[in-house]
Amino acid sequence: MQNITIAIDGYSSTGKSTIAKQIAKELGYVFVDSGAMYRAVTLYALQKDFISIDAFKVDDFVKELPNIELGFVFNPNLGFSEIYLNGINVEKEIRTMEVSSFVSRVSEIPEVRRQLVYQQQNMRKLVGIVMDGRDIGTVVFPNAELKLFITASPEIRAQRRYKELTKRGDKVDFNEVLKNVQERDYVDSHRKDSPLLKAQDAIEIDNSTLTLEEQYKKIMYLVTMTLEAYE
Ligand code: DC
Repeated sequence: MQNITIAIDGYSSTGKSTIAKQIAKELGYVFVDSGAMYRAVTLYALQKDFISIDAFKVDDFVKELPNIELGFVFNPNLGFSEIYLNGINVEKEIRTMEVSSFVSRVSEIPEVRRQLVYQQQNMRKLVGIVMDGRDIGTVVFPNAELKLFITASPEIRAQRRYKELTKRGDKVDFNEVLKNVQERDYVDSHRKDSPLLKAQDAIEIDNSTLTLEEQYKKIMYLVTMTLEAYE
């Protein structure tokens, strides 16, 4: 059976990565969380003090980009790949509220996008791939055989994110999480360079009222139909 490319885009905290991981596991495909790459670059900018509360030294940061090496290493215990920043596993560090607060600003920088899109496009050469993000169906893989666009209301997404953060012990305020979700929606869909858009040929799935099981069934049906069409 031919390997296909599955592009999953949508707003933050819609559970894109969860469903992308499930599909990749089912098909034996590689799963790539492109948001993790933008988050890791943001973490680097924070660690090296290119970003502070009142300033972002964009020009200096852009000069530093060649020194940022990203990689994914499969973790057999978890069943998916974790992101490494210059050889260090940063899967946990990239999911803090601090990184979430700055990541949209970093993702707006054209040089950052160019570098990450180039790396993402090169990953396709290997095998079947499921990649989730904001511009996968529009910019990274415009010829993907299956494109999904996942949505859910901001309140539902903030609730899910809040649960996830508190579960791992982070002390956060629900309203702060909701505000971050809304701000990221705005910046992600209004930036000049490759804004978050539903590709014309993407299938939209609003999962506000769907259980994970229902969503999985719905999406696996679409995957099966696509695989049959390309057999
Ligand atoms: O999927 P996520 O919430 O972890 O992504 C974090 C941020 O990265 C998101 O606010 C926008 C940015 N991003 C992007 O600009 N393009 C992508 N393909 C993936 C993520």
